[in-house]
Amino acid sequence: MIGSLVATAFWAMLPAYVPNNFAVLAGGGRPIDGGRKWNGSRVLGDGKTWRGTAVGTAAGLAIALGLNALNEPISGALGVELPAFELHAALALAFGAMLGDIGASFVKRRSGRERGAAFPGLDQLDFVVGALLSAFIVAPGWALGVFTLPVLAVILVMTPVLHVTTNVVAYKLGLKNEPW
Ligand code: CTP
Ligand code: MG
Repeated sequence: MIGSLVATAFWAMLPAYVPNNFAVLAGGGRPIDGGRKWNGSRVLGDGKTWRGTAVGTAAGLAIALGLNALNEPISGALGVELPAFELHAALALAFGAMLGDIGASFVKRRSGRERGAAFPGLDQLDFVVGALLSAFIVAPGWALGVFTLPVLAVILVMTPVLHVTTNVVAYKLGLKNEPW
């Protein structure tokens, strides 16, 4: 029961988990805000780039398509009916995750935090909120079917744990400047 909830939550959120990690790998190039400031602070900062956002979104979409291809055998092996991604749902999860992260940077700059500063809570959940909101707006029928209350509860607990773990690993591997 709890195992199938965790499997469903993880599977459904993978297209939202992956984009940020690919953005870290692909980052660099022109910042989205073009260097512009608002009230003396950067609008978003150098950590939000066009390339990172595009590559992250594409990676999330690719993961969703890959998961769809593997759905039958893995659902069968686990004995769990894992969700298949509608194309627009996959795009909403991936791009929504990036938007959530960008929104968090906007909030961080407004609160005087420089690029890379930690904002506990926001850092761990910004992309989840962005991904889920986007999915419910863009693909409401699909999202209502997949993200039931128990699945949402698992996502809320599981995501910060996964986020902290992957970021510490990325930091130790020298891929990321800060461990958050
Ligand atoms: N990145 C990117 N484009 C994005 C998101 C991330 O290019 N939309 C890349 C950047 O190289 C960034 C790195 O991934 O530095 C780490 O992402 P993140 O921790 O979100 O950015 P920070 O540099 O910490 O900046 P911020 O304080 O705004 O979160
Ligand atoms: Mg950061």
